[in-house]
Formats: sequence, C-alpha cells, structure tokens
Amino acid sequence: MHLPFAENYRIKMVEPIRKSTREERKRWIREARYNLFNLRSDQVFVDLLTDSGTGAMSDQQWAAVMTGDESYAGSSSYFNLQDSIKRILGFDHFLPTHQGRAAENVLFSALVKDGDIVPGNSHFDTTKGHIEFRHAKAIDCTIDEAFDTTLDHPFKGNIDLVKLEMVLSTYPKEQIPMIIVTVTCNTSGGQPVSMKNLREVYALAQKYGIKVIFDSARFAENAYFIKTREEGYKEKSIKEIVREMYSYSDGMTMSSKKDGIVNIGGFIAFRDEETYKKCTMFNILFEGFITYGGMAGRDMNALAVGLDEATEMDYLEARIGQVRHLGEKLLSYGIPIQYPIGGHAIFVDAKKFLPHVPREEYIAQTLAIELYIEAGVRGVEIGTILADRDPDTRVNRYPDLELVRLAIPRRTYTNNHMDYVAAGLKNVFDRRDQIKNGFKIVREAPILRHFTVELDKL
Ligand code: F0G
Repeated sequence: MHLPFAENYRIKMVEPIRKSTREERKRWIREARYNLFNLRSDQVFVDLLTDSGTGAMSDQQWAAVMTGDESYAGSSSYFNLQDSIKRILGFDHFLPTHQGRAAENVLFSALVKDGDIVPGNSHFDTTKGHIEFRHAKAIDCTIDEAFDTTLDHPFKGNIDLVKLEMVLSTYPKEQIPMIIVTVTCNTSGGQPVSMKNLREVYALAQKYGIKVIFDSARFAENAYFIKTREEGYKEKSIKEIVREMYSYSDGMTMSSKKDGIVNIGGFIAFRDEETYKKCTMFNILFEGFITYGGMAGRDMNALAVGLDEATEMDYLEARIGQVRHLGEKLLSYGIPIQYPIGGHAIFVDAKKFLPHVPREEYIAQTLAIELYIEAGVRGVEIGTILADRDPDTRVNRYPDLELVRLAIPRRTYTNNHMDYVAAGLKNVFDRRDQIKNGFKIVREAPILRHFTVELDKL
C-alpha cells in the first residue's frame, strides 16, 4: 500500500481551547461591536484570524530561546540571526525590527517621500498604509488574472510587466524609490510569484535604475510553489530556490511572524551598505539599537532557527498540505473560494457566497460574522472595510474582491480542526439565501480602520 503523507513532527505540548454555544457567540459578537478583532481569544474555538505570530515553535526553537543573549549591543543572538540571513537569504546587511510594519516604517522613512510612487503587486495594508501616510502612492500592477477567483493560474501573485513599465516610464526615476514585490501576495489570496516573473521584474527595474524590495513575510511558501509548479525547479531544494529568488532583489522587509515561525519579530536586509546605513538612524530612533531593533535576544535566536526550519520541504509540505486539505473540503461542498488554493490561507469569495447582501453593507464582514456565530471560527474580512477610504476623496474604496480569509497558523491545528471549520462554513452556505442584510459602520479610524471599526446590524 502507498504510504500517505504525514507530518514530520509530533506534538509535545498542548493548549486547551473551548467550545461555546451559539447564544454566547451572538452576545459576544454584539458586545464586540461586530468587529472580530474585539473578541477575546477564549470566545473563539478555532482562530483563523491570522497566521501571523500564531504558529507553534519547535523544540529546537525553544532550546534557542533559553540560550538567548540579552546584551544591549553585539549579542550572540544577533550574530546567529545574521548568519541565518546571510546563509539562507544571501544578504550581507540587516537590521532587526520588532515586526514587519516596523521594518516598513524604517525602510520607508529612509527612502519614501511626499509625492513618490511605489508600484508593486497588491501591497499589503500596512505597506500601503505606510506609503500613504507619507503622502506617496502605491500602484497595484498585479496581473488581471488574480482578480478572477475561479481562474486557474499557477502564479496569481505575478506582476504585469506592461503595467509596471507604464509606471516606470511615466514617472521620473527620482519619484520611484522602489518596486515592492510581495511573496507570496497576501492581498490577492496568498498567491505566489513565479521565478520567471521575479527575474523579469528585476531586469525591468535595472533598466530604469530602480530598487526591487521583496515584502517577504511568506517567502518560503512562495519557494514551495515555485518548486511544485514552475518548470525547472522540481529537483532544486527550497533553500536553493530561496537563494535564487533573492538574487533578483536589492533588499527585503520581513515580518518574521509568518515564515520565521516566531511569535514576534521582523527585519530589513540589503545587498548594498549605503541603504543599510541610511536606515540605521531610523532603526535606532524607532526600534532600538542596530543589533536588537526591538527584539529580545531570545527571539532573535528562535528566529535564526525558524528561518532554517521554514525552508525545509517536509515542513512546507505539511504546512501547505493542511491549507490544501481545508480548501479541497470546501470545494467539495461547492463553496466559492479563491482558486488555486494559496499558501497560508483559504480566501472565501463572499460576493459569490452571499449574493443578496449589497456591497455598501460589507459583504465579507457579514460572512465572517455569520461563520463566527455558526461555529466559533474567527476569520477576517479582506474587503471594503480593509480597503479603507480613498485618502483624497474619503469615499469608500470597493475592491474587486470581497473575501473572508481563513488563515491557518503554522503547526498549530490538526486536520480535524480543518474539517470542523469546513462543516461550519457549509452550514452557513446552506442557509445563505436567508442572509440578506449586512452592517453599517458607526465608528472608524481615518487609516487602517478595520482593526478598530465598530459596526451595527442592519
Ligand atoms: N507584509 C505582509 C505581506 C503581511 O502579510 C504582513 C502582515 C505585513 C507585511 C506586516 O507585518 O504584522 O509583522 O507588522 N500580515 C498579517 C496578516 C497581519 O494577518 O496577514 P507585521
């Protein structure tokens, strides 16, 4: 008999989670002003709000925690992390930060100014937030295929080279501090960017003399898709693929809370010393001294190990296999999801799921709330609320896609949990015709409103 795939780890420690009743959940979500971020974690049974900082560390990572060096300057933990970054990603210069958006803050403080243009593939919301905060503009150059959730395309994170060249040839070089390539592209559904596309983007950038920075939160998952989907990479190791990916960049920002498999942390890394030097002042100002940048020594140590573990094929097979398991279950129930299934999450197409809810009533948010009430599963809206208002006109931006993201923490839940989530969503799907009304906003912040927005039922 063919031996099926099984995870290459076993569980040494467990953490109890608690089921609740539908009545309790209805009350809790009302008290939370219909914002899933406001729920207490013990009001949630399966928490798929994010895969960020929510993964399980290995015994090797915990061992590294115990040998963390908490010196203010020049700790051995810093040098351990430097070794991992150099060996795995190929960068000579790096600065630790306390998380990914802090890395963006430091880098953009040095490079992005009022009126600048930053093209890329569907910038993540904090990235876009940091760009717009500086009165610069993020231009989305993702391929059109990414916006059709049913279309089968292996690399929906790809940048459209025609769109990109249009931007590069329209604006003067001095106004484009960098191109940001997000690997994998979270906003378009955890979709990967092909090696061919990375190579071509870099060539185009070099032609115009512009830097390429990878927003790298899920770089290892991107490498997995290159290995399994792109011709010529099947026999290459994940680490070889990662090295080639970064050879087509000038630097990176990293949220280590994803493919670093740690609970907190981030960094920026560069090939050239000049950019590194420009950033050091901002790192010291915002984050901490350049050899810790807001991270404890123990966390840098755990990250040094995590980068190694995340770039092993056995780990990635288990990780992405679990996401696929949930996705295939949902597809078998006829539930509309972003296809092909991405790396870290399932994205449910809320417009197709709830055709009766008008877009002004926040379709994806409505679905996320229904799923919570149904099963105690917490996902997150990737739709109109997340898209914020246009910074100039202040009118709602209605994105092409209204999605509910079910992000799967690394090494945390079992496939039984995935089956439970799928059943919960199926129950909502079966009664979808009765869901006609959504929500209205009663309070919101001027930027990144989705974290704190307050809603009322219509
Ligand atoms: N870039 C990408 C692609 C991300 O997905 C995130 C975070 C960040 C940057 C910012 O990193 O959270 O460490 O400050 N994504 C989380 C998520 C929040 O749930 O997708 P951070």
